[in-house]
This record gives sequence, structure tokens and C-alpha cells, in this order.
Amino acid sequence: MPQETGLKKILIDELRDIYHAEKQLVKALPKMAKAASSADLRAALEQHLDETEEHVNRLEQAFDLLEQPAKAKPCAGMAGIIEEGSDVIREEEKGPTLDAAIIAGGQRAEHYEMAAYGSVIAWAKTLGHDDVATLLHETLEEEKAADEKLNELAEGGINAEAASESEAEEEEDESAAEERRPAMARRGANGAGSRSMSTRSRR
Ligand SMILES: [Fe+2]
Repeated sequence: MPQETGLKKILIDELRDIYHAEKQLVKALPKMAKAASSADLRAALEQHLDETEEHVNRLEQAFDLLEQPAKAKPCAGMAGIIEEGSDVIREEEKGPTLDAAIIAGGQRAEHYEMAAYGSVIAWAKTLGHDDVATLLHETLEEEKAADEKLNELAEGGINAEAASESEAEEEEDESAAEERRPAMARRGANGAGSRSMSTRSRR
């Protein structure tokens, strides 16, 4: 096999990078789906898992068309995005806020992939590999659709639910703090005074 140079070399390098990125997503998406509370979000993530498995297959076909072995190259970019996503899943309780965070992580992954596929498609076309470009264009369209679906879910209710969840939590915290305050202080003449003091001190 000849040693590739120039644009062909970076095309193959980038394909190896995306190949690893897609394989990492195949492992991460079921964890994200499991952590999701919204049934619609879970369904969207599961659907994208099926598509992502197909993205791996398409990349293997692209390597074939380029007469290259299907080899993965560690993709630190996707590893970082997935790592941040797993941190949130570990730290946040299940509910709309975690769902909103899962969507944000998923969209970050989709945008990373969209950028990468955009470059490799353009390079494949420039090199006369329209077969590779057409194949990966199908994947790019699915990444875009997945991103749009996540956007719809966020803006169609999950973000608003997360906002009212945090409002409810704040109210709970306030009433718990109120109960903890000694009865004397609650009845004290300075109740209103201390509030305006704290407002002043914040200015
Ligand atoms: Fe993908």
C-alpha cells in the first residue's frame, strides 16, 4: 500500500479520528438514554444509537473505497465531550435539569461530528472520491437531523420544565430555611429591616 501524502493523508487521518469518535458514541448513547427521564429524549437517543451504528458501517465502507484498512485513531475531542457528559450524569439527579444537560452534551457531540464530516466530504470531493462524499453525506444529514431533534426537545418543553424544577427547589430551600430560623427571630421587629440591610449591602 502506498504511503499517502497531502490532502489524501489528512482525509484518511480524519476518517480514522471520526471512526473512533463514532465508536465512542455507540458506547455513550445507551448511558445517556438510560439517564434520561423524558421518554421522547430517550427515544431520540436510542434512534440515534441505531444511526450511529450505521455511521460506523459507512466509515468502514469509505475505508474500503479508499483501499485503506479501517483503523481508528484516538479521538481526544469526542473523548472530552463524552467525559464532560458523564460528569453531569454522575453529579445531577434524574429529572428535567439532567435531561437539559444531556441534550446540551448530545448537541456538542453532533456539532463536533458535523464539522468533521463537513471537512472530509469536501476533501473527498476535491480528490475525486464522489463515492465517499455521497456516502458520508448521508451520515452528515442524520447528524443534522439528530441535532435538530434535540433542539426541538429542549425548546419544546424540557428547558422550561428544568426552569420550573429549579424554581420549585428554590422555594423548598427557602421554606426549609424559614422553618430552621428560631421563632423569636421570625417574630422580631427587625424582620423587614434586615431584608433592606442585605439589599443595601449587595449594592
Ligand atoms: Fe454519527
